[in-house]
Amino acid sequence: MEKKLRFHNRRFRIMLIGDPHCGPEDQQIRDRMIIKDYLELQYAAIRSAEPDLVVLMGDNADGGNPEEVRKTLFRITKPYSDNKIPFTFILGNHDLQYAVTDLDALYEIYQSLPCCILPGNRSRFGDFSIPVFAEKGEEQKLQLLCVYSGSSEMKEKGSVYDWVLPEQIRWIKETQKNLGAIPTVLFQHIPFPEEFSLLEETTPISMLLDGVSGQNEQKGRFFRLKKSTSGYLGEAPCAPAVNSGEFEAVKQCGNIFAAFFGHDHLNDFVGMTDGIVLGQCKTASFNAYGDGTRQGVRILDFYENAPFAMDTFMLRYRDIVSKKSRSLSGSIAVLHDKTSVKLETGAKTVLPAAAVLTPLLLSCAAIHKKKRK
Ligand SMILES: [Fe+2]
Ligand SMILES: [Fe+2]
Repeated sequence: MEKKLRFHNRRFRIMLIGDPHCGPEDQQIRDRMIIKDYLELQYAAIRSAEPDLVVLMGDNADGGNPEEVRKTLFRITKPYSDNKIPFTFILGNHDLQYAVTDLDALYEIYQSLPCCILPGNRSRFGDFSIPVFAEKGEEQKLQLLCVYSGSSEMKEKGSVYDWVLPEQIRWIKETQKNLGAIPTVLFQHIPFPEEFSLLEETTPISMLLDGVSGQNEQKGRFFRLKKSTSGYLGEAPCAPAVNSGEFEAVKQCGNIFAAFFGHDHLNDFVGMTDGIVLGQCKTASFNAYGDGTRQGVRILDFYENAPFAMDTFMLRYRDIVSKKSRSLSGSIAVLHDKTSVKLETGAKTVLPAAAVLTPLLLSCAAIHKKKRK
């Protein structure tokens, strides 16, 4: 298989897989159902989207020993090798927490998988970039920048999650300087803290509708999507509390026009801040926390004749496979999403309250009116 990536029919289509969280164990019936649901989503998404490249967005696989990790990765990437679709990956905060704790050893396992693209030229932290060429000829049209955002090992007091280090930021700047003005998209597991600029602060009562409560360092604050942000907010972003200046560096590069993240399993919103598209890819997993059958993959389309332009949309299990899954219990499987659950909860709370309070208020008003006469 040719590993040089190229536009096809002037388009290059990427399929992002958020937080697969797959494990090696198939001992329980539910484990088998989980992986079946996951693979069915993958095969359906490939049939529907026919991507040119797949990117695993981190928190990909676990296992009790290196061989189990390899087997798990082999199994979850089989839909791509079956269809001769190349894939690449970024690591999440959990990927080095299991049997393989050495970055180079884990990369070696990835490299042994069919259809894996992993350039040898990498930063000390495992960051790398992949060129995408024009349909014909040797002109590079797009660059994919894969950045490792760490786990919790490097954390300082005050941040639950790691941040991209100054050395990595220097590597990003250097790589982009050598590249010139080639349009670049960045992929990273843990989102930039600047993702909060796509949200607005709201009140606790909004939790009944479209609001979510802040997590970790943001506890006690409430957020919802700004009108200019599209998609779905299921939880507050878990960005690092320390801002290492990565977003500022990305802006200064001038050619990085979009960045996509995993990590927050429920979120699939996309918006623009300071001229850069920031987007979330929610989980495709039935093994981690999710919201009913909305697990899905995110599609990104880039165009050879329109640099710095892109389209993106989600393909969800419930839309391309089924509204019920094998691995989720009946009640969870039929939930539309958290918002609809909230609306339902809101209606269940507000309507009975209104039914009781309205006659009471009306009779009070009538008595008051009588008195005034
Ligand atoms: Fe995750
Ligand atoms: Fe994560």
